[in-house]
Amino acid sequence: MSKRTHIALLIFILSSYKCLAGIATQNLRCEMLHNPLGIETIHPRLSWQITGEGRNINQTAYQVLVASTPTKLAANEGDLWDSHRVNSGESIMINYAGKVLISRTACYWKVKVWTNKGESQWSQPAMWSEGLLNTTDWKARWIGHDGGFPWDSVSKFSRLSARYYHKQFDVKHGVKKATIYVIGLGHYELYINGNIIGDQVLAGPPTDYTQSVKYSTFDVTNAIKQGANAVATVLGNGRFFTMRPKYKQKKIKEFGFPKMLLQLEVEYTDGTRQLIVSDNSWKFTADGPIRTNNEYDGEEYDATKEMPGWNNTGFDDSKWLKAELVEAPGGRVEAQVNEPVKVMDTVKPVTINQLKPGTWIMDMGQNFAGWVKMHVKGKRGDKITLRYAETLQPNGELYVANLRDAKVTDVYTLKGGEDESWRPAFVYHGFRYVEISGYPGRPELADFEGEVVYDAMATTGHFETSNPLINQVYHNAYWGILSNYKGMPVDCPQRNERMPWLGDRAVGSLGESFVFANGNLYAKWLDDIAQSQKPDGAIPDVAPAYWNYYSDNMTWPGTYILVADMLYRQFADKAPIEKHYASMKKWMDYMHIKYMKDYIVTKDKYGDWCVPPESPELIHSKDSSRNTNGQLIATAYYYHLSGLMQKFAKLLNKPADAQAFAVLKLRVGNAFNQKYLDKKSFRYANNTVTANLLPLYFGITPAASSKAVFKNIVDKIENDANGHISTGVIGTQWLMRGLTEYGRPDLAYRIATNDDYPSWGYMVKHGATTIWELWNGDTANPAMNSHNHIMLLGDLVAWFYQDLAGIKTVNAGFKEMVMIPPVISQLNTVNASYETPYGVVKSSWISNNGHFTWHITVPPNSKALVYIPAGTGKAVTESGQAIDTIKDIKLLKIEGGRAIFRVGSGSYNFEVKS
Ligand code: BGC
Repeated sequence: MSKRTHIALLIFILSSYKCLAGIATQNLRCEMLHNPLGIETIHPRLSWQITGEGRNINQTAYQVLVASTPTKLAANEGDLWDSHRVNSGESIMINYAGKVLISRTACYWKVKVWTNKGESQWSQPAMWSEGLLNTTDWKARWIGHDGGFPWDSVSKFSRLSARYYHKQFDVKHGVKKATIYVIGLGHYELYINGNIIGDQVLAGPPTDYTQSVKYSTFDVTNAIKQGANAVATVLGNGRFFTMRPKYKQKKIKEFGFPKMLLQLEVEYTDGTRQLIVSDNSWKFTADGPIRTNNEYDGEEYDATKEMPGWNNTGFDDSKWLKAELVEAPGGRVEAQVNEPVKVMDTVKPVTINQLKPGTWIMDMGQNFAGWVKMHVKGKRGDKITLRYAETLQPNGELYVANLRDAKVTDVYTLKGGEDESWRPAFVYHGFRYVEISGYPGRPELADFEGEVVYDAMATTGHFETSNPLINQVYHNAYWGILSNYKGMPVDCPQRNERMPWLGDRAVGSLGESFVFANGNLYAKWLDDIAQSQKPDGAIPDVAPAYWNYYSDNMTWPGTYILVADMLYRQFADKAPIEKHYASMKKWMDYMHIKYMKDYIVTKDKYGDWCVPPESPELIHSKDSSRNTNGQLIATAYYYHLSGLMQKFAKLLNKPADAQAFAVLKLRVGNAFNQKYLDKKSFRYANNTVTANLLPLYFGITPAASSKAVFKNIVDKIENDANGHISTGVIGTQWLMRGLTEYGRPDLAYRIATNDDYPSWGYMVKHGATTIWELWNGDTANPAMNSHNHIMLLGDLVAWFYQDLAGIKTVNAGFKEMVMIPPVISQLNTVNASYETPYGVVKSSWISNNGHFTWHITVPPNSKALVYIPAGTGKAVTESGQAIDTIKDIKLLKIEGGRAIFRVGSGSYNFEVKS
């Protein structure tokens, strides 16, 4: 063999070794986003996933290249950053550490990894770009019009028409790149040369606009052309010009009339730059087709008032008004980094029935938030009215009493002649039923389509079981969760509220994080919460504080801390803890100083909100034996949150703080037991499930008493509640996991599978397709009775994934998991998957009288402890082989009827024969 052939052979052998496990990388993310434009972090965090055949793949090193152009990246020239080979197992949240990034820098990047099973090729390229990092980068001026027009009415039920803005400009030859940075408050649509830019809807995230306003960045290089161009926007009201302005002033925060800030930057190949900015050279009209848009009351669109070509070149805007310079809204201008709201799904109506001549009721078959897209052909001036509701009255009419004073009515006036299609631009509704009146001819199912509108986050979880009722509850939870994401989590999508109440998401956010990749949304919400903090430290119950509720309690504001912990655990996102630690501490100190007496927190507001009441029409129970003492709840939460603060302080290397929280926690715990624990009966206070569960689950209960306290919980559920739920928003946050961790997953399962009152199954049996606000949502007073609220889910969804499927992280971001499928004789099968930051985890088990099979997949670069219900004597096999013959799988110990193994990445088929 010649030397050359020898070398060639060697290279061949080496390269085939390299690819032995087909190692590759995928799903490159920057700040948990795919190819984000206009971010402001200058050390963004980069993450990737590793793929490969076989088991036990662990990254041993990585190299990241970041280049200023795709060409340089392709030539492996990391002129912005070449990390070189870094020996590390970290594959998520790696801080960019290259050249200082300045405004507008585009960064193209790729990664290569080395693993114990070979190395990857370079990944596919990904990119991010920096936004406008300095206030001086902004040359645009705020434009708007601070007042209404004769056809508007600024009153309790405000009507304000949309504003249309327009600007023409010329572009020279040799465009390299064109970028738009835009803020349109409350909502906007953006056009260039007649074409809409982007597929976002209800654009512009809701914030307290006096604190921050978020701009979006669009690459419009392909949208502009040499010569004449037009940029245009429509401004809607959203939360900026609120739904009920000038009304109940004390409670509602309003911001003024719609306004915008827009900067279009055209970069030429010769290095010059042209700016087209919002200023008073723009023209506008408010006399266009959108006559009013009010999130509670609906949108009216008069197609006879359309202005053909208004958003394109050549439009005669001589009759339009000159744009006015207005004051800035006041908030810091910053980049939007949470996903925009989009049309994420569609729903086909199932029936349309005539209610009376000219009026039809359409059933969408599913309660959701969004709107109806309608196709119609008729005469000019024909008016179609659409009204929305969640349920029907016995006589078939819409039931709107629970929408309070929201009018939820869209009106479309036809231009006539051709086929027309319409959907609102700036409002959405929460509904299942639609009343259609004035439709020319007979409305057919094919004329309508529901568009489901929520934040464009990936669905990361899949969950099903052999129990159809659980599956339906999960379905309802899924639809409830997505319905209530609107650039912030809201309480409900239908009535005159739709507010970002903190307490509703305290623990629910954890369950939700298995279903949707909600990391950026919740990180944004923590910013909203921080911005709503008062100088004295108070955190409100609603943030952004559109409604003024600073009632000082532990359970609603405490969500600030619980969500930060969730983001760290589920996504390994430590930034919120770093960013908000000081404000969280300030709030804890504020509550301590103002309300703590002898280590008992003396202030609460909501109690165990919405426990099942004693009589069907009640919203809140008046029966003191059902309700839990508010100070007990507040003090237990203070204890629990001090523990989290202690953890955060450790993470941030603040040992003195950690120590102080530990000491405080101990004192609070002692005072709590002293005050509420009866040493004879081991009952806390009035012995409700919540009163016993909070101290037990939080670890306040002395170890020696925990069995007895747990027994009280079980007795209470089994005897007094006949195996049913008796908790409200607070107790339900810990109930399912509490019962499971203390050894009664079967009781949790019983609660979850009841279909009589009160239960989630009862909602299902009574026609719910989402989750109700009240356990007795079908009979309670309509004053506070939404059929699409998710706070009563408590920890149910987290329990589905963590405890029924057994997909649970031990440390930040699922680098290591603990998988403990339950043994519940009534439940035969669970089949679930979840996309962790490392990749997809799967868990599917079948259990039949002691015969147990379990298929799991662990993603590369992570590992799991698996707890197999194997007793001691039973043999466990994996893919048919005795497990002790498989060298990759390590038996750690046998404990409590479980064989505990450590496994690396890969797929496994475990079996235990009965
Ligand atoms: C909201 C709830 C909220 C509660 C607190 C209700 O009106 O819909 O979700 O948490 O008020 O007061």
